[in-house]
Amino acid sequence: MDIKLNLDPKISAVQGRLAGVKRIIAVSGFKGGVGKSSVACVLALLLAERGKKTGLMDLDFNGACDDIILGLGARFPQEIEGLEPPVINGVKFMTPAFFARNKAVNLRGEEITSAILELLTVTRWQQLDYLILDMPPGFGDAALDIIRFIPQCEVLLVRTPGALSQNIIAKAEAALRDLCVKILGELQNMARAAVRYDDSLEVAYGKPRELLKTQFAEDLEREIKKLGL
Ligand SMILES: Nc1ncnc2c1ncn2[C@@H]1O[C@H](COP(=O)(O)OP(=O)(O)OP(=O)(O)O)[C@@H](O)[C@H]1O
Ligand SMILES: [Mg+2]
Repeated sequence: MDIKLNLDPKISAVQGRLAGVKRIIAVSGFKGGVGKSSVACVLALLLAERGKKTGLMDLDFNGACDDIILGLGARFPQEIEGLEPPVINGVKFMTPAFFARNKAVNLRGEEITSAILELLTVTRWQQLDYLILDMPPGFGDAALDIIRFIPQCEVLLVRTPGALSQNIIAKAEAALRDLCVKILGELQNMARAAVRYDDSLEVAYGKPRELLKTQFAEDLEREIKKLGL
């Protein structure tokens, strides 16, 4: 790890906030629209349903949508020595959408880095078995920053069956290996096998209990068991 990381008090503060979290899973795909957010939300709901202490953090500042998928409504974090995330269906949930007030987030470059760091620094997760991170698409500054701030995360790569997604995943895997980041595994979404295309998914957005009854959730449960979750 870069020695500068240890000297930055904010990064130490992030690590302090994550001290009680056993496993951090970054749901990534390095390609847009492959199902990262749907997988991150339903994965968190499935783990919470098993009785695991679970958190979910939407780190896609420019395209946060987990609040819609989970049906956040009027819930808001409580301020108690930081921000205590509200709980949806057993999942502690944090998102930049709390602060964006239904507007597009038009941050760029360093501003995104600062905002990610701020959210990670203020959020009080306490003890968790799993923290799921919904990663931004691509392999740009934001994704690299998150990996730099949370080097202990394990990356779950979501891809679609197509050759384009496969090509990008192969490059991403090599880049992650160079950065010494643990790769938990790969998940095929909208595929014939693995996690299949499911018409009922869109209809169940906003209703966590309905999401857990979808074929998507059933497929995901089976596939994550294969990855040891
Ligand atoms: N297995 C599936 N069956 C049917 N629709 C799906 C499936 N997986 C994802 N979708 C749909 O694909 C679209 C993109 O999904 P989602 O937002 O989860 O992807 P994403 O990778 O997070 O996108 P982004 O890169 O924009 O963050 C959504 O409309 C979602 O409903
Ligand atoms: Mg997304």
